[in-house]
Amino acid sequence: MPVISKFDYDNFYDIFFKGEPNIMKKPFILDHPLVQHKLSILRRTSTGTKDFRELISEIGTLLCYEATRDIELEPVEIETPICKCTAKQIKGKAPVIVPILRAGLGMVDGVQKLIPSARVGHIGLYRDEETAQPIEYFCKLPVDIADCRVFLVDPMLATGGSAIDAIGQLKKRGVKNISFLCIIAAPEGLEKVNVAHPDVQIYCAALDDHLNEVNYIVPGLGDAGDRIFGTK
Ligand code: PRP
Ligand code: URA
Repeated sequence: MPVISKFDYDNFYDIFFKGEPNIMKKPFILDHPLVQHKLSILRRTSTGTKDFRELISEIGTLLCYEATRDIELEPVEIETPICKCTAKQIKGKAPVIVPILRAGLGMVDGVQKLIPSARVGHIGLYRDEETAQPIEYFCKLPVDIADCRVFLVDPMLATGGSAIDAIGQLKKRGVKNISFLCIIAAPEGLEKVNVAHPDVQIYCAALDDHLNEVNYIVPGLGDAGDRIFGTK
């Protein structure tokens, strides 16, 4: 039976770079007990569309909480009922959330719960069923996205093709600060994204065992898009 997170993630980066310091950002794995519990429900075949959708959104919120830890703040003068004081507020333009369609849409409201002022751009990609190569079909992003921090969201990082393509589209438009939030990652895809885009910080809730012969994550949760939208 495949084991969740059997992958030797701690040694992966040392082995990959043979001990050399590198610019690659180690993925952040949200191994909080509540998240692990939610993930187990999410993975079950018996979990229906409504619960699946709610869990994707909830885990999206928790990933966002971690991914925004380093968000830049600036001082702001405020007045409490007691006195004036200097408090802090988020600096600069509000971040932009970019879901990779379709499945990424399931994480948008979870992230917006924590960043209500965030705008939303969309990148439409689907995997060719034979080759697993991403096929682009839509891209609509805020015109000033180059000046914004971007949270790219998609529940599944499998071969990494979709994430690499979407990050490439963002960089082509001048985006410099990109975080990728996913729920389950496969080691194969993680490595590919890291090599293609070493500057992008990846946040995930689980690092699974491997990809199967048709490039699905094992043990994974099946087809995220179909389970969110009830299309199968
Ligand atoms: C899924 C998933 C990712 C992609 C991951 O989308 O939501 O976008 O596959 O696989 P990769 O890492 O091998 O590229 P899918 O292509 O099934 O489209 P959908 O979201 O419209 O269902
Ligand atoms: N896309 C999914 O939705 N699930 C997988 O396991 C791989 C790609």
